[in-house]
Amino acid sequence: MNTIIALAYLLAAALFILGLKQLSSPKGARNGNFTAAAGMVIALGATVPLLHFTKAGLEITAVGLVIGTLIGTVGARMVRMTAIPQMVALFNGVGGGAAALVAVAELLKFGVHPPLAEVFPSVFSIVIGSVSFAGSMVAFAKLQELMTGTPITYPGQQIVNLLLAATIVGFAVAVLAVASIPFSFIALMVLALVLGVAFVLPIGGADMPVVISLLNACTGLAVAASGFTLNNFALIVAGTLVGASGSLLTKLMSDAMGRSLGNVLFGAFGQVRAGVTAVGSGGQARSVRSASAEDLGTLLAYSQRVIIVPGYGLAVAQAQHAARELADVLEKRGVEVEYAIHPVAGRMPGHMNVLLAEANVPYEQLKEMDQVNDDFKNADVALIVGANDVVNPAARTTPGSPIYGMPILNADQAKNVIFMKRSMRPGFAGIENELMYGPNTVMFFGDAKDSLTKLVSAVKAA
Ligand code: TAP
Repeated sequence: MNTIIALAYLLAAALFILGLKQLSSPKGARNGNFTAAAGMVIALGATVPLLHFTKAGLEITAVGLVIGTLIGTVGARMVRMTAIPQMVALFNGVGGGAAALVAVAELLKFGVHPPLAEVFPSVFSIVIGSVSFAGSMVAFAKLQELMTGTPITYPGQQIVNLLLAATIVGFAVAVLAVASIPFSFIALMVLALVLGVAFVLPIGGADMPVVISLLNACTGLAVAASGFTLNNFALIVAGTLVGASGSLLTKLMSDAMGRSLGNVLFGAFGQVRAGVTAVGSGGQARSVRSASAEDLGTLLAYSQRVIIVPGYGLAVAQAQHAARELADVLEKRGVEVEYAIHPVAGRMPGHMNVLLAEANVPYEQLKEMDQVNDDFKNADVALIVGANDVVNPAARTTPGSPIYGMPILNADQAKNVIFMKRSMRPGFAGIENELMYGPNTVMFFGDAKDSLTKLVSAVKAA
């Protein structure tokens, strides 16, 4: 029996890894989810014989499975695309909390002196799992607008958080070294919950995806530690995979924003923003060029190559279908169209890919930043739709700018730039964008969906 269970876990682990591999391209993402889910079903099935059920235990497990499956299925089916980050935060937090509770329950079984091999992973699981649970709940509340999404800061905040973290480490060492009375596990858990809340409070709205990804990695590690406590191979593998992929995603996102993880976590970015805007708008009012839909329709219709740059505004306006429609009418006229996707365009990882896939934009037309950046100089038009920071040349030219060093799309190198947004307001980073004043830039003000629809008619009429 044990060999069968071990083989089932091995198969589950292989399916998790295969699923992750498939998730790395939009084409394979759907199947990747199914593959990993199949692995999870096998892992769950293999765990059941290990539990040596009493009747009551079996009933509790069955009730848990039914409730969990119902909430998961209904939640995933009902959630709006723009609400995915908070759903991830919620599910992830629950995972961390579960890992912490499992660890406490295991330790309580042993009484006052549990063996060190049990205490070590359990203490790790309790601390990291609780931080992840509490932090994820705050992240959820912020993104769901149950509380303010801007950073909540106060003087000496980092020192308070540091002291809290040091107290937890001291407490954990004491639990490991001296004795473990049941009360100490609970106290450790409460302290870690407080740290989780305190850690996420000073982080601002659009930095939340990075924090959620980091907390996701923490949950993975807490779950892997639970695997050591319970001697469960599947938990160790699954937890480690989540921990590793979450850490990589966190690093990739910070890099794509040109900021260190420390700056994201401790920089209170949304707060800095107000000051920067004030400086940016303090100068002379400058004029920009704008044009009518008819003129821009003619420009687009007689172009050979157009690169569409989608951003957060496209997502807010739900303009993905209108963008696809414009691309269709242009292609009918023989214009070559592609989409330039910046890794942090929008407010969550893969935001633009998901939206454009929903509008059935062919995958081949979605070009990642490195693939497309050299093509801008040969493009007749860069059509920027509700994007701003990801095309801001200040990232290249202005040391001291909050986005200096962030890799950007070279939209400014196109022969013509059509910049679509509603106003001259800045993007998430809160800084002016010189590209709006560029000699080859034309502003086209309005809601992205309305503006694209006008351009579709104008191209048809050209
Ligand atoms: P932003 O720089 O935030 O610019 C979006 C622009 O869209 C705004 O300037 C806004 O201007 C415009 N807009 C808003 N609603 C619109 C509507 N209905 N119709 C037309 N335009 C509209 O977005 P981006 O270029 O996509 O850059 C993303 C930013 O988020 C970066 O700073 C990035 O670092 C940050 N961020 C992203 C992620 C991920 S994973 N994607 C994670 C953390 C942070 P108006 O108000 O004038 O219309």
